[in-house]
Amino acid sequence: MQKLATQFTLIFASVIVSTILVVSQAQLRLGFYSETCPNAETIIREVVQKAVANDPRNAAILLRLQFHDCFVQGCDGSILIREDEDGELKAPGNLGVGGLDIIESAKARLEQVCPGIVSCADVVALAARDAVSLVNGPFYHVPTGRRDGRLSKMSLAQKLPDVDDSIDVIKFKFRVKGLSDQDLVLLSAGAHTIGVTACFFMQKRLYNFSGGGGSDPGINPGFLQKLKAKCPVNGDVNVRIPLDWSTQNVFDVEIMRNIRDGTAVIASDARLYDDPETRQIVDSYAASQEATSFHQDFADAMVKMGNIGVKTGSRGEIRRVCSAVN
Ligand code: HEM
Ligand SMILES: *[C@@H]1O[C@H](CO)[C@@H](O)[C@H](O)[C@H]1NC(C)=O
Repeated sequence: MQKLATQFTLIFASVIVSTILVVSQAQLRLGFYSETCPNAETIIREVVQKAVANDPRNAAILLRLQFHDCFVQGCDGSILIREDEDGELKAPGNLGVGGLDIIESAKARLEQVCPGIVSCADVVALAARDAVSLVNGPFYHVPTGRRDGRLSKMSLAQKLPDVDDSIDVIKFKFRVKGLSDQDLVLLSAGAHTIGVTACFFMQKRLYNFSGGGGSDPGINPGFLQKLKAKCPVNGDVNVRIPLDWSTQNVFDVEIMRNIRDGTAVIASDARLYDDPETRQIVDSYAASQEATSFHQDFADAMVKMGNIGVKTGSRGEIRRVCSAVN
């Protein structure tokens, strides 16, 4: 009964959230800056290209940044504000988030050409798109017209998905943002086809799974030895290991096979195989021969994530610099 009631609340909550999304979504559109700042997307792309050429890791960093922006108060660039000691970026869930300097330098160039026009929130969304396409991921069109939020608080970032959350909690955290199980699989497993994790996030999974002192039984035994060798007990938790063990620098569908085969690196990716619905989605991508549908579906899910709680019209502002409100 309790469970039913909870489920009902969950469904009800997601209906409300999706309704709100549809309303605000209507106002983002492709080419929002085509008249007011026609070179905006080109300028952002150049900055991202240079950043990724300097350090290929920046692609993953920029992709992650959009997720962490959108999941707290919507895609409004709030994570970029660095004025207060208790700003969003300081939240435990945002540990290791970076790329803010790249966004800031793109914004500085935009301000020279068309001051006060392009929002930091849009720069984040466009930079993530460019980053994905630079590592052999899909290129997709990003509806724009987001405006920037004025609030950045550590306390507001408490509900970010945690690496050690159960699959039910993870599903719930996506559903309240209007994202389906399919979006969850595509976005979290999909994005983790590139980038790295600190051993810090591996501690529970390797050495104290569900508080019992052991490791996650879902890890393939041979792979467990490799993970333990890279992240030894009492070792340096700042050491970084690839999230996609087989192909860490390429955006591809291998990550789905890793999850299926017990060779996912972080716990939250492995959890996608704990649940019948998400498992079926992982299996279907893992079995696909070519990457086309994975790439296209990932792109669609990114556009959907980019619509979360956006501020449009007269809400929010266009920040002059991304690190501070006007
Ligand atoms: C259940 C949801 C998710 C959880 C629990 C999660 C957790 C994590 C963790 C623990 C890391 C390692 C961070 C570090 O050591 O610095 C990471 C990295 C990353 N995440 Fe996620 N993530 C989730 C969903 C997503 C989504 C939806 C995206 C983007 C669409 C994303 C993109 C990335 C990327 C690209 C990296 C690599 C960053 C780098 O190389 O610096 N993640 N994630
Ligand atoms: C393992 O987890 C349990 C329960 O969360 C906790 O009480 C215990 O202190 C942890 N052990 C270590 C070594 O961290």
